[in-house]
Amino acid sequence: MRVAIIAGARPNFVKIAPLMKAIAAAPSITPILVHTGQHYDHSMSDQFFTDLDIPSADFNLGVGSGTHAVQTAEVMQRLEPVLQDCKPDIVVVVGDVNSTVAAALTAVKLGIRVAHVEAGLRSFDRTMPEEINRIVTDAISDLLFVSEESGCTNLHREGVAKGKVYFVGNVMIDALEMSRPRWSRSRITARIGLEPGAAYALLTLHRPSNADDPKVLESLIGALRTVARRLPILFPVHPRVRRLLAESDGVTWRALDGGSTLPGSGLFCLDPLGYLDFIALMSGARLVLTDSGGVQEETTILGVPCLTLRHNTERPVTVTHGTNRIVGTDPTIIIDAAVRALEDPTRKHATPPLWDGKAGDRIVSVVLNDAPDTLFDAGTAEARA
Ligand code: UD1
Ligand code: UDP
Repeated sequence: MRVAIIAGARPNFVKIAPLMKAIAAAPSITPILVHTGQHYDHSMSDQFFTDLDIPSADFNLGVGSGTHAVQTAEVMQRLEPVLQDCKPDIVVVVGDVNSTVAAALTAVKLGIRVAHVEAGLRSFDRTMPEEINRIVTDAISDLLFVSEESGCTNLHREGVAKGKVYFVGNVMIDALEMSRPRWSRSRITARIGLEPGAAYALLTLHRPSNADDPKVLESLIGALRTVARRLPILFPVHPRVRRLLAESDGVTWRALDGGSTLPGSGLFCLDPLGYLDFIALMSGARLVLTDSGGVQEETTILGVPCLTLRHNTERPVTVTHGTNRIVGTDPTIIIDAAVRALEDPTRKHATPPLWDGKAGDRIVSVVLNDAPDTLFDAGTAEARA
């Protein structure tokens, strides 16, 4: 069986790592790994292949950056001949980025079956480019692999046939668990200059609604600088935010291996971190502030308090089971929530159903068509587990 796996952006690389591992253990599958080139900086791409032991891509389409239409069209145009040539039996796409929807469209129009990993998530906010990508990808996929129960509910509500939907758990958590021995050994805190045991917070921002409007970004940075009077906030900066941030007052860039001890307060910008260093930093943080999808899930498992700087989440299980609170973008509310989280970091949390590190194996067994339907039927988690 020939299985083409498509990945293009940072969170995609994390999601394919456990899939590639599970596929490598299935001798009847010949994998074809395609990197679209949507993300291309070393720190956004190659570093993840190294950190997560992902085999080199068989094809790199080199699409790079562009408007939504250009980027989506470039992936389609460059992927089509690869798929025509390789003739995979199935194309696997992950997540919700432009490469995901572009690859799904290309495959389905060639008559190739499509499997979507992380199907069914909905923020119900169609101003998010990812929401459009999710809806379109799910509508044209043949196999829908769902990471949390809300995904099953959403797909059911949209009229997707039950037999296409498989609740398998979360590959993002597979990646975190399979690399735990490696990220536990990271020396990132020392490299940043943190004293052993020093308290710090971790920040990521890259959603267009937060990162593209100077007024919104300025207001967020103002709130975060206020929080940073209590403890240092470390901010690995996504390339999307770098230019606007360079024009902001009150942020300091911090090089790794700088030698000096990090001050006890302030907002410190870093280059984007590799996966192992970033997870290590997250696991030791007193607080995480983010607008990332994956980070909401990872803090849930690591038990680190998380404040999501958005008005919604497509991952509600991180709120019902995890440590996540949706606080929006109002500076007063962010500061208040951060102060409260720092003063009382204990928040009861539980592991969401099937976030057990085995999602990749379940996906591969469905793809191989050797899983009994009853095991994965979209009923209750308990029935499936
Ligand atoms: C994309 C995804 C988003 C995902 C994020 C993960 C879409 C629509 N958005 O957003 O869902 O959460 O990836 O990080 O697919 N750039 C570089 N170097 C790189 C990559 C990007 O400098 O290696 C810069 C370019 O200026 C580019 C901008 O970042 O224009 C945005 O990149 P793009 O891939 O379009 O979207 P992201 O914001 O990264
Ligand atoms: N991440 C990382 N280094 C960073 C920031 C994030 O390794 O500097 C990881 C993070 O742990 C998660 C993934 O990148 O595994 C999430 O990617 P991102 O936030 O870019 O995308 P999203 O999940 O919002 O689509």
